[in-house]
Amino acid sequence: MTDMKKQNGAVLLTGGAGYIGTHTTVALLEAGFDVIVADNFSNSCPEAINRVEQITGKKIKLYEVDVADQKQLVQIFAENKITGVIHFAGFKAVGESVKLPIKYYRNNLDTTLTLLECMARFGVKNLVFSSSATVYGDENPSPCVETMRTGKCANPYGMTKAFIEQILVDVAAAHKEMSIVLLRYFNPVGAHPSGLIGENPGGIPNNLMPYVSQVAVGKRDKLTIFGNDYNTPDGTCQRDFIHIMDLAQAHVKAIEFVEKNCGLDVFNIGTGEPYSVLDLVQTFEKVNGLKIPYEFGARREGDLPVVWADVSKAARVLGWKAELNLEDMCRDSWNWQKKNPHGINSSRN
Ligand code: WQD
Repeated sequence: MTDMKKQNGAVLLTGGAGYIGTHTTVALLEAGFDVIVADNFSNSCPEAINRVEQITGKKIKLYEVDVADQKQLVQIFAENKITGVIHFAGFKAVGESVKLPIKYYRNNLDTTLTLLECMARFGVKNLVFSSSATVYGDENPSPCVETMRTGKCANPYGMTKAFIEQILVDVAAAHKEMSIVLLRYFNPVGAHPSGLIGENPGGIPNNLMPYVSQVAVGKRDKLTIFGNDYNTPDGTCQRDFIHIMDLAQAHVKAIEFVEKNCGLDVFNIGTGEPYSVLDLVQTFEKVNGLKIPYEFGARREGDLPVVWADVSKAARVLGWKAELNLEDMCRDSWNWQKKNPHGINSSRN
């Protein structure tokens, strides 16, 4: 099985040096796929790829390119036999996207369109796209189901995901030979259990788990919980946190799925279980044996009270479901943070 996959060619991961990309690279290598990474390190670093090589004991073919640069991308397709692509490359900071919408639309749409042109030119038909639960917007009650109407997102980052989904729907309709999967991630957290790779945000983290981890390691004084007057059991927002190792495994299932099917399919990737912000903080304290100082603050603009996934389609069609729980997520996030208090940054030798 492994050898057959290798003979068939490699999977190209755009943005493969990032948080989700590195964990997916590990999962694909362990499942016997050959992987090529294309990344411009705009929000990642070459050391992350060294760490993946350390974990897997395998060498990764790495291209430092901007996926929106057609010439550079063509070279990757010309030099390698690529059987499928997982497209992670894109900007993802919600707040920055509100301030710099043109930058977000330009980058996220350009990378995708250039990639699609390149795939068409080289006859590569299989694509998995890194989408987000953000496409469900604020009009759909949870649990979110793949058949719900999407596209009314609260910020330009989310809109880039919704626009790209629409582009891919149109491409799949026009090119029947194409096989495309959209994975809508809920709230990815956690890290590889080795603590060698994990989420590496620059500056002050926007997301909950990196913020909690940085409080734990002493980089931040305390966590502010944005709102405790929501109509939820403990007053704080509820989310569907999903362990990055489970998320990575979903990409293995998705790439196997696109290899066997045609058309376009959409899958929610979450656990299907909502936990509150306070649940996460208390679990983090319990499993790691430490205190997270926190205070309640005002609600954050744009936050929805409750977001979680219906994950039955991924189980039924992909044969995938999350195996790890909130305790695993909190333990592995802290293991990564304490081993890398300042993240990782050095360059690849
Ligand atoms: C979770 C909960 C906050 C920080 C965002 C994007 C989404 C996706 C994932 C992808 C909320 C609360 C947070 C803090 C807090 N992006 N919180 N104090 O907003 O569900 O989703 O990240 O690339 O598109 O919108 O995740 O981790 O920011 O927040 O109280 O310091 O934690 O209010 O209720 P969110 P999050």
